[in-house]
Amino acid sequence: MSGLLDAEGTRAIGADLERLDGPAKVTGTATYAFEHRLENPAYLHPVQATVARGRVTAVDASAAEALDGVLAVLTHENAHRLADIGDAELAVLQSDAVAHRGQVIGAVIAETPETARRAAGLVRADYEVRPHDVELSAERSDLYAPENADTEQGDLVSAVASAAVSVDRTYSTPMEHNNPMEPHTTVAVWEDAGLTLYESTQGAHDVRTTVAELFGLSPERVRVIAPHVGGGFGSKGPLHAPVVLASLAARTTEGRPVKLALTRQQMFDLVGYRSPTIQRVRLAADAEGRLSAIGIDVVAQTARSKEFVEQAGKPTETMYAAPNRRITHRLAALDVAPPTWMRAPGECPGMFGPEVAMDELAAACGVDPVELRVRNEPETEPESGKPFSSRNLIACLREGARRFGWAERDPSPGVRLEDGWLVGTGVASSTYPVNRIPGSTAVIRFGGGRYAVRIGAVDIGTGTWTALTQIAAEALAVPVESVRLEIGDSALPKASVEGGSSGIVSWGSTITAAARAFRDRYGTAPAEGAEARAETPEDTASRRFAMHAFGAQFAEVRVHADTGEVRVPRLLGVFAAGRIINPRTARSQFIGGMTMGLSMALHEDSVMDPRFGCVVNHDFAEYHIAANADVVDLQAHWIDEEDPHVNPMGAKGIGEIGIVGTAAAVANAAHHATGVRVRDLPITLDAFV
Ligand code: MOS
Repeated sequence: MSGLLDAEGTRAIGADLERLDGPAKVTGTATYAFEHRLENPAYLHPVQATVARGRVTAVDASAAEALDGVLAVLTHENAHRLADIGDAELAVLQSDAVAHRGQVIGAVIAETPETARRAAGLVRADYEVRPHDVELSAERSDLYAPENADTEQGDLVSAVASAAVSVDRTYSTPMEHNNPMEPHTTVAVWEDAGLTLYESTQGAHDVRTTVAELFGLSPERVRVIAPHVGGGFGSKGPLHAPVVLASLAARTTEGRPVKLALTRQQMFDLVGYRSPTIQRVRLAADAEGRLSAIGIDVVAQTARSKEFVEQAGKPTETMYAAPNRRITHRLAALDVAPPTWMRAPGECPGMFGPEVAMDELAAACGVDPVELRVRNEPETEPESGKPFSSRNLIACLREGARRFGWAERDPSPGVRLEDGWLVGTGVASSTYPVNRIPGSTAVIRFGGGRYAVRIGAVDIGTGTWTALTQIAAEALAVPVESVRLEIGDSALPKASVEGGSSGIVSWGSTITAAARAFRDRYGTAPAEGAEARAETPEDTASRRFAMHAFGAQFAEVRVHADTGEVRVPRLLGVFAAGRIINPRTARSQFIGGMTMGLSMALHEDSVMDPRFGCVVNHDFAEYHIAANADVVDLQAHWIDEEDPHVNPMGAKGIGEIGIVGTAAAVANAAHHATGVRVRDLPITLDAFV
């Protein structure tokens, strides 16, 4: 950890610093939400609807209330009335309506978690049941266009009809559920001064603002504490029902803390998921594979009770040049829980169809898939016409091809059999936007020889504690040891949500601005107590430039010729994401994203039972995710990318791009191995036998 800076005090950014929170994590002293030690806590367990649509006509809590150790049973009849019920997902216990199976219709507060859980199982509800509808299809007659759903340039249909080579195929990605290692957890304490929440969240201030509105409190009366968070992947960005339920419960226990940790099964009902998508992709090209048209028509689902748009058409706006273009989004409003963000919402599912279609086009034209992508590189962002602040997709493709050994590849599918396994390789592109969220404030204060850097950011396991310390050290031109970062608390200056890979970009820009203000005012020898603050600088660059990270992912796939078993012995990604703040934590983000992409390719699939309207494989026994045995030779590399426009650090967000394109690379490699084109995820053995 020492010697990071030379005598001139530069280059904290880019140092291969070990995680500053690492020792606390591996020794078990990093405190996660549920672990905060509070006097005499009570425990909360939700009661969930057993029908998919209708209303609760009666609740019999007598058996639950009679159980020793039960403190209270909350229902829509006795729950505190919220001040704001505009968001149906957050209007917990505010009416008798049931909008999806598994919705919270009550809760038990008890002396122990076991008692609360047992009692919740004893609560009986009667329903007036209404017919439900949970089945997504592209043929539904009630699909509707959400706002800003479509873009169009030129004439896609004519271009496809007159093209030398065309692809017109439909791809699908399934419903997938966010499963951070730490489930959604809240410890709520309601005292005279207000409400304190120890919360597993991606945005302490967003939780504070929303909960204050829901309960009609001034924001100063709500405090949200989140020093360590065990993963989020988007589901801990927007608020969901559990934090509201815990707050309601704490209001009834009069100062006694209430603890709620969702079970893994409840994670499949109450905190959102990635919508399934159906993607019709159309490509038109000349005989050399130069695109004249590109189109994607996306069908996704939303909840009838609350709209969420999975913007899977988005990356097509950015990726490839073609004069004729069309992107559409259509939604089916179903009797399901509301979908939400899941790592790279939009881009992740939205690069599956188009990147497999590009592979199909490459095969149809007889052009190498790397070469095909290079050939369709745009001069400016295709949809907006803006120049890119930096775009190094081609460099990623070339560097990836070199490292992977792509040059010797025989393009014929289904011809390499080794020890009973069909072997193939595939490639796909990655992309993710540079998102800066305005409205954060950073305060820097000098005291005791160190600089306290305060901002209400959160580290959801990504390395924020470390990377923000490095950014502050570099901006102040001091060693990292001289910086004491304070994050994870809404009592700190306001910070934006960790979403859209915006954390380092937004908070880092803000800290850099505060450091400059500090140095401008006090120079390099500040007096004790010297203090400066700054807000997030305005993002003027995004008006002039299209700003995105890019990448290329290469996969080797083996499919067993007899059983159809699919293995991915090699996965290699090369990314161009601006300046890398910390290679150690960055690598973790890239390979973590790629592992989740591998998981998407081979395993993840939330199976909806249309009869009951719920996900049936709602645990890790049946909802499969990639395990150690799935991950063999997984490499993430990056190219040095100088981008003077994106922000003062020159950095692009890296939390999400790693999952973008992985599944397409695996599907393309599976086709190369077997000759079988899989257009519907996940890729399972039944496709090949
Ligand atoms: Mo990320 S899915 O935008 O939290």
